[in-house]
Amino acid sequence: MATCRFHIACAPLLVCVMLLGKNQEGMEAVACHQYCLEVDYITCPSSGSEKLPARCNCCMAGKGCTLHLSGGINQTCN
Ligand SMILES: *[C@@H]1O[C@H](CO)[C@@H](O)[C@H](O)[C@H]1NC(C)=O
Repeated sequence: MATCRFHIACAPLLVCVMLLGKNQEGMEAVACHQYCLEVDYITCPSSGSEKLPARCNCCMAGKGCTLHLSGGINQTCN
């Protein structure tokens, strides 16, 4: 009887752990890498030639934006 109750208590817990694991996988795909480039400013197609505040990397800046790095290097995000 004791083991039976143990299993019943554990089943929802196991499901929870599995769902949690699934969620983390999903978030991993969406979350940006937490690294920072030496970005002076960025420009995006939506802003035209306007200089936007620096973003750490392409993931945060968005697709089509250009990171203008210190040192005169431009990195286009695609
Ligand atoms: C980067 O972009 C800026 C602004 O458009 C431009 O003045 C500069 O020449 C570009 N630098 C390189 C290395 O392409």
